[in-house]
Amino acid sequence: MTKKLYIKTYGCQMNVYDTERMVDLMSYEGYAVTDQPDDADLVVLNTCHIREKAAEKVYSDIGRLRVLKTKKIKKGGKDSILAVGGCVAQAEGSEIQRRAPVVDMVFGPQTYHRLPEMTKEAHKAKSEGIRPQIVDTDLSVSEKFDSLSKQAVSQKKTAFLTVQEGCDKFCTYCVVPYTRGGEFSRSFEDVMKDAKKLDDAGVLEVTLLGQNVNAYHGMSAQGVEWTLANLIRHLAKETNFKRIRYTTSHPQDMTDDLIAVHGEIEQCMPYLHLPVQAGSDKIVKAMNRHHTIASYRKIIDDVRKMRSDIALSGDFIVGFPGETDADFQETMNLVREINYAQAYSFMYSARPGTPAADRDDQIEEHVKAERLAELQDELIRQQRAFNDTSVGKIMAVLLERTGKEAGQLVGRSPYMQAVHVNVGNRDMVEQNFDKLVDMKIISAGPRSLKGELISK
Ligand code: SAH
Ligand code: SF4
Ligand code: F3S
Repeated sequence: MTKKLYIKTYGCQMNVYDTERMVDLMSYEGYAVTDQPDDADLVVLNTCHIREKAAEKVYSDIGRLRVLKTKKIKKGGKDSILAVGGCVAQAEGSEIQRRAPVVDMVFGPQTYHRLPEMTKEAHKAKSEGIRPQIVDTDLSVSEKFDSLSKQAVSQKKTAFLTVQEGCDKFCTYCVVPYTRGGEFSRSFEDVMKDAKKLDDAGVLEVTLLGQNVNAYHGMSAQGVEWTLANLIRHLAKETNFKRIRYTTSHPQDMTDDLIAVHGEIEQCMPYLHLPVQAGSDKIVKAMNRHHTIASYRKIIDDVRKMRSDIALSGDFIVGFPGETDADFQETMNLVREINYAQAYSFMYSARPGTPAADRDDQIEEHVKAERLAELQDELIRQQRAFNDTSVGKIMAVLLERTGKEAGQLVGRSPYMQAVHVNVGNRDMVEQNFDKLVDMKIISAGPRSLKGELISK
């Protein structure tokens, strides 16, 4: 009988990638995915520690799962294993089980390849009447990728490929260097092996992933160091991928050569996610970001020279300790000047163990909230304006999922905008699903576009 796995993903695309790999791993152990935690033999929460809210959500979810499980067992249902993985697990380790004894297993982003063994161990302990208290938060990355490379690849036409992990930058607000460990680039051969598999499976779009993906510096067996720019060039030449994307980049590692790729490689999509976090030199310095506002501006100018239509995206933090109204207005000015196609913005959240959390000039919550609202108003206005410029254009859209309405498909434009299209009947859905289709954009909203098929 097949066993069931319920897995919930919080946080960033690295976690989405890790979840896919865990599903692959457990499928070899006879586990099929279920969307009902009640039905599962193994429940995994793949968690995020980036902001307090994200981390606290995990504990409320554990509470809910505990109630479900107690009810189920009372009714004579089978017991299940509850595992907490990801970045909260890495940061808090066995503290999780102290706070929530119902948790059987805790493992970090660099140890999830041992999930099958850990699960067996937990089942064995339970069958002997012992409470399994497994904690595995080792941080060495290469062993993980070695064991994952034996696994299957996803069936979708758009796929993530992790090329780099971890971070050495230590921005003063951020937990990632502690939860994901130091910067690690996979070897050129390993990356190409995975790329080949995706290519053979007919993948059309690949997104190269890393916390600092443009810091990629994988070695080849010949001892040659590969940059991200050269990796993209090589993938464009040696594979059939129609679209290549990469995320997330740091301004410090945005080389002229990588900027040049945007003008040179057709498959490199006209979209760049390049977080600046704040618009004041004082604040980015206090954040330990290793770039200035002038250097960021220069990068944006250069990228736009290469690809004038490029869609720019970024991340912003408002209310970093010591941020004055004037500092915040510098962020607003920068945003108005750059004109983003899309962006993410957050209130600063003090995270345990990070230097900024110890500062005594923390900003009051209501001030952060006001600043966030002002910034988000402007960002959404810009996004809307960007979307409006798409109306009337013909764009290639990768139709990657079905929509809410019957006969509807949803995909992404080259600029990462979500595009909805009503293709008509079920035959047409089948015919266009997972295809890269030219489409005319007929209307725009703040968060998505509507398109129609161009009759051939
Ligand atoms: N490695 C990427 C992204 C890291 S996390 C980069 O350096 O750009 C994603 C985003 O979360 C960050 O860009 C930042 O905007 C936000 N973030 C990180 N720590 C935060 C904190 N303590 N409070 C609020 N936002 C935070
Ligand atoms: Fe965090 Fe900064 Fe590293 Fe990004 S570069 S992961 S924000 S420490
Ligand atoms: Fe969150 Fe970990 Fe990603 S803290 S943002 S899941 S790297």
